[in-house]
Amino acid sequence: MNPTGLLLATFILSIVGLFAFIWSLRKGLFDAESSGARTIFSAGEIGRTEEPAASSQQHQALQQVTDRSDARSSRRQEISAAELAVRAAADRSSAFPAYLLFACAVVWLIVGSAAGLVSSLKLHWPDLLTDTAWLSFGRLRAIHLNTVAYGWAPMGLLGLAMWMLPRLLKTPLLGGRLIILGAVIWNAGLIAGLGGIAVGINAGMEWLEIPWQIGGMFAVGGMLIGLPMAFMLPKRKVHHLYVSVWYIGAALFWFPTLYLVAKIPGLHFGMEMATMNWWFGHNVLGLFFTPLSIACVYYFLPKVIGRPVQSYNLSLLGFWTLAFFYGQVGAHHLIGGPIPEWLITLSIVQSVMMIIPVVAFSLNQHLTLQGHFGALKHSPTLRFIFFGAVMYTITSLQGSMEALRSLNAVTHFTHFTVAHAHLGMYGFVSMVIFGGVYFAMPRILDTPWPKQKLIALHFWLVVAGFAVYIVTLSIGGLLQGLVLLDPARQFMDSVAVTLPWLQGRSLGGALMTLGHLCFAAHVLLITLRSGLLTQPVRTTVHSPA
Ligand code: HEM
Ligand code: HEM
Repeated sequence: MNPTGLLLATFILSIVGLFAFIWSLRKGLFDAESSGARTIFSAGEIGRTEEPAASSQQHQALQQVTDRSDARSSRRQEISAAELAVRAAADRSSAFPAYLLFACAVVWLIVGSAAGLVSSLKLHWPDLLTDTAWLSFGRLRAIHLNTVAYGWAPMGLLGLAMWMLPRLLKTPLLGGRLIILGAVIWNAGLIAGLGGIAVGINAGMEWLEIPWQIGGMFAVGGMLIGLPMAFMLPKRKVHHLYVSVWYIGAALFWFPTLYLVAKIPGLHFGMEMATMNWWFGHNVLGLFFTPLSIACVYYFLPKVIGRPVQSYNLSLLGFWTLAFFYGQVGAHHLIGGPIPEWLITLSIVQSVMMIIPVVAFSLNQHLTLQGHFGALKHSPTLRFIFFGAVMYTITSLQGSMEALRSLNAVTHFTHFTVAHAHLGMYGFVSMVIFGGVYFAMPRILDTPWPKQKLIALHFWLVVAGFAVYIVTLSIGGLLQGLVLLDPARQFMDSVAVTLPWLQGRSLGGALMTLGHLCFAAHVLLITLRSGLLTQPVRTTVHSPA
């Protein structure tokens, strides 16, 4: 078939799908009334803030912000005790599986940060740790990427998803043992995969380094973790599926599908393999990490401020446009590579179309928070979640520009891409996970966080470190790209020009790692305080306060 025709057909199909969707929204086919946005609240709860990570003073101040901004708040109404009891039962049912996933996430966060920091130091201190093969840059970098991409981020996000689902469906978690089994299989696969990378076993594709014989365990583990949702949906007590459920359900389905297709042995060869590599690479970002993180923002942000999301239809528009456009962006990683031009052009068009879901999401969060920005001062959860949501917007808009051939010619093969990667995987995904864990853990363990100051210290260390990381690496990457494009300059000039910026990145990374140590220590402290290690998990009925 004529490539231009194919390209045009795909584009037109997306646009027609989008307009059909907008039309159906206007006709109210998906959601006749915006009561969907209120699903996450119990009767009488709107106008009441829920922030388990806040101290009692912070909570009072947070409630005052909501009272001031929403005069018609129904705060004085009675909250349904029966509904709160259902929520407590929901929290109780997911407590252990969610805790297990969070605990794994924290361990991988520390291992991954250490590997990232040493890799970073090696880029400007090449003689560091050169005597041991597994500590060489090539292996350590892959260990860092796989630890954060298959350990920290998915364990944290799946833990949050499993914790939110019973609340969102107002029904206890079913099949918790499958989640535990899935987590064990997934983590066993990761340990084996990392061990393999350390001794030099590597499938040779970024994001897919772990050979299929081991990597298959991620797909099996992911499927087992996703199954309970299928059991719970028919038993749900809510009429409406809140938008977070759509995102979680889609991500749980997409991950095993993507991984299985990418890893089928003997199917992909040569350039087609590279194309598939980046089809997987960006889809795992856009159709797994992103929807799970967005699901968290859509739950925690309105919950903390006690106000339903501003435009429920906009949130559904965001979901469907993400589903329509993300699937074909992968080839923007291969701009300039020996693959058909039409495929690359298609990926660029879809990358730019991504502006629609991104703006829909950002606008919605902004409108929801309007009048409640003061809450950021008093809610530790909201600070992390809001920071993550803003970084999602920035990363994605930057990504849409970075996909244009003119800019990509400068940034490809440079540290600028790595800065963008951390803007998304750290600024967005990781910050949302931190915020979600701060909210969920006190409910899971039925104990408040022991040291409020440690949460603030964690926030400021990682924000400062992240800022240094992104600014230095983006500047260094752009300078590197400009030198690489200059035929009058030697290749070594492009290396030398990055040195001060790489040192800056190590400083930023060290601050982030310090922040992670605070977080891990705090998780350990709250666990010890709860007595989890000595007695069974219990969860009592909570008022939203
Ligand atoms: C509209 C949305 C986005 C677009 C159009 C986009 C576009 C891009 C482009 C063009 C590249 C550079 C490819 C290259 O020159 O090698 C890239 C790399 C990357 N992006 Fe995005 N991006 C978007 C959102 C995100 C988000 C939300 C995340 C994180 C969750 C993310 C994570 C990454 C990562 C990790 C890489 C580096 C991959 C690698 O080389 O290992 N991006 N993106
Ligand atoms: C814990 C959250 C983190 C996440 C989710 C994360 C994610 C990533 C990703 C996706 C990549 C691949 C980028 C690409 O190929 O374009 C990467 C590479 C890298 N990361 Fe991280 N990272 C994290 C923390 C850190 C920290 C704390 C450091 C410390 C400096 C660090 C240093 C590095 C280095 C040196 C690379 C390799 C860059 C290169 O090859 O030029 N990362 N990280």
